[in-house]
Amino acid sequence: MRRFILSAIGLCASVSLGTSVDTYIATEGPIAKAGMLANIGPDGSKSSGAYPGVVIASPSTTDPDYLYTWVRDSSLVFKALIDQYTSGEDTTLRSLIDEFVTAESNIQQVTNPSGTVSTGGLGEPKFMINETAFTGAWGRPQRDGPALRSTAIITYANWLLANNNASYVTETLWPIIKLDLDYVMNNWNQSTFDLWEEIDSSSFFTTAVQHRALREGSALATAIGQTSVVSGYDTQAANVLCFLQSYWNPTSSYITANTGGGRSGIDANTVLASIHTFDVDAGCDAVTFQPCSDVALSNLKVYADSFRSIYSINNGLTGDEAVATGRYPEDVYQGGNPWYLTTFAVAEQLYDALTGWANQGSIAVTETSLAFFQQFNSTIVTGTYPSSSTTYTSLVTAIKAFADGFIVTDATYTPSNGGLAEQFSKTNGTPVSAVDLTWSYASAVTVFARRAGQNPASWGAANLIVPSVCEPYSGPTVAVTFNVNATTVYGENIYLTGSVSALTDWSTTTALLMSSADYPIWSITVDLPADTGIQYKYIRIYNGDVTWESDPNNSITTPSGGSEILNDTWR
Ligand SMILES: *[C@@H]1O[C@H](CO)[C@@H](O)[C@H](O)[C@H]1NC(C)=O
Ligand SMILES: *[C@@H]1O[C@H](CO)[C@@H](O)[C@H](O)[C@H]1NC(C)=O
Ligand SMILES: *[C@@H]1O[C@H](CO)[C@@H](O)[C@H](O)[C@H]1NC(C)=O
Ligand SMILES: *[C@@H]1O[C@H](CO)[C@@H](O)[C@H](O)[C@H]1NC(C)=O
Ligand SMILES: *[C@@H]1O[C@H](CO)[C@@H](O)[C@H](O)[C@H]1NC(C)=O
Ligand SMILES: *[C@@H]1O[C@H](CO)[C@@H](O)[C@H](O)[C@H]1NC(C)=O
Ligand SMILES: *[C@@H]1O[C@H](CO)[C@@H](O)[C@H](O)[C@H]1NC(C)=O
Repeated sequence: MRRFILSAIGLCASVSLGTSVDTYIATEGPIAKAGMLANIGPDGSKSSGAYPGVVIASPSTTDPDYLYTWVRDSSLVFKALIDQYTSGEDTTLRSLIDEFVTAESNIQQVTNPSGTVSTGGLGEPKFMINETAFTGAWGRPQRDGPALRSTAIITYANWLLANNNASYVTETLWPIIKLDLDYVMNNWNQSTFDLWEEIDSSSFFTTAVQHRALREGSALATAIGQTSVVSGYDTQAANVLCFLQSYWNPTSSYITANTGGGRSGIDANTVLASIHTFDVDAGCDAVTFQPCSDVALSNLKVYADSFRSIYSINNGLTGDEAVATGRYPEDVYQGGNPWYLTTFAVAEQLYDALTGWANQGSIAVTETSLAFFQQFNSTIVTGTYPSSSTTYTSLVTAIKAFADGFIVTDATYTPSNGGLAEQFSKTNGTPVSAVDLTWSYASAVTVFARRAGQNPASWGAANLIVPSVCEPYSGPTVAVTFNVNATTVYGENIYLTGSVSALTDWSTTTALLMSSADYPIWSITVDLPADTGIQYKYIRIYNGDVTWESDPNNSITTPSGGSEILNDTWR
């Protein structure tokens, strides 16, 4: 077992791994929690000037200046706090959570360089800490923010529903959640800057959290009777889940983080996605890349190994020994160093995986995950190992120690005051870049909770079906009912065809057969692009012979929302 010096608590003795991790957590846990709270306005000791409920990224104002509020960081931080409140672990957080909700609902309405609330402004990544717009050049939009924010607020909403406060959910929270989810529904299929704010393409983390938000948003909408959004959220959630599969790289056995990268695509993005979409009820499901899925484990090995040779503080660590990890191996930001939160994220995925195996009572080793498991048992073969087997027990023991090793790595490079910066030096382990990074503290709080077996509420990831064909998003749709009064002879049918794909692009062979249930009115309801000019005609088909309606083409402009009924007469 690896020996180390636990500098954080001045303990200069080599001790058994589990004990030392327990000791570090006992000290660092409260420091991390206090570190989060210090960075939240208006009363946080390090966030002077921040409005109530506003999370500053870090109090650092130079090299780098992080005295702003990011929607992503704030939402991840408050998700951790909301989990603590709703689980009963910390019942003092209610008013702070209410202030966060108010702050975010204000920020949603701030016109900014990405647009207004209704023209794309929800994709704006960061704001001033007094809830005004940041107008400088930046990587925008970043489309994970609305998804993460709705996930945090939905977690609170579900708890309020279970605690007899549906009116607050419906009147106050739902309008905020719906703005974000409508944005996700309508924009998931557009490019985005990634969570590191560098690459404009499609990004696994963003797609994964968007999928989650739409699923739990649909369930909440159903629970509170907001049924008009459900089919739209469900349809797009299925499309997003389909798209999510495309990031898996089967030849290299990892998840390619960004589609337009110019680099390997090996990235903490994917590990963070797995832990932030962990669902304790979803087992080792691979389609949602659950932490114990074979794809996520294979990916984790490739990701962690990519840092073994590039950070000198990792020198000499091999095989099943934990290492310091960073954002991605090609990173040069602030010198390109390991990050506290990414190293904790590896441990968190492994603790989540241990929970998943314990719940299902077995470990499945597949061709895809074989290399991951060979780190702990070089002679392991594919198969399913029940929890009663010695192989299962030895794997779980080794993987727990491996996970603890990543905590020890961050512990080793935590300074004596327990402060967590953004990064630590790849050559000597001293803190680098922004001090007191709120997200670093949140990552400590969540990994410590998972290690202790405290898991967030399920979000509905179990048993999802991936559509066989991935549909792109084609804009908002409205249901249009076409009624046409047409007398026909026996064996003759009326069809609809028109100028958009939903109307078969003027095809006569795939034109839409209408129902004659209300003969002589023939009827069909079709989802058409909203707010769009469309031409159409009815056709008769009898013994294969096609007869068109006389000219001109019928035309409509579809409404921007709701539905429409058209009452035509055959010409
Ligand atoms: C918000 O903060 C910025 C930066 O400190 C400042 O320039 C601006 O005047 C403030 N706006 C308001 C309304 O307080
Ligand atoms: C519902 O929750 C809100 C937000 O915390 C609170 O202000 C309100 O008093 C609660 N209402 C009830 C009936 O508990
Ligand atoms: C849009 O969705 C389609 C179908 O999944 C996919 O092929 C395409 O890459 C997506 N584009 C973006 C920018 O999300
Ligand atoms: C490693 O895996 C092999 C194959 O399943 C098994 O026979 C062996 O007992 C395992 N080793 C340990 C230490 O569990
Ligand atoms: C259908 O059209 C015929 C002929 O114009 C008309 O007599 C009949 O009332 C119409 N039926 C309906 C249900 O509108
Ligand atoms: C109806 O639309 C079709 C397809 O765009 C077009 O070819 C045709 O000319 C149109 N008919 C009239 C009368 O405009
Ligand atoms: C068609 O008829 C229905 C009632 O049968 C009515 O609600 C609808 O407004 C009519 N559509 C138009 C475009 O007039």
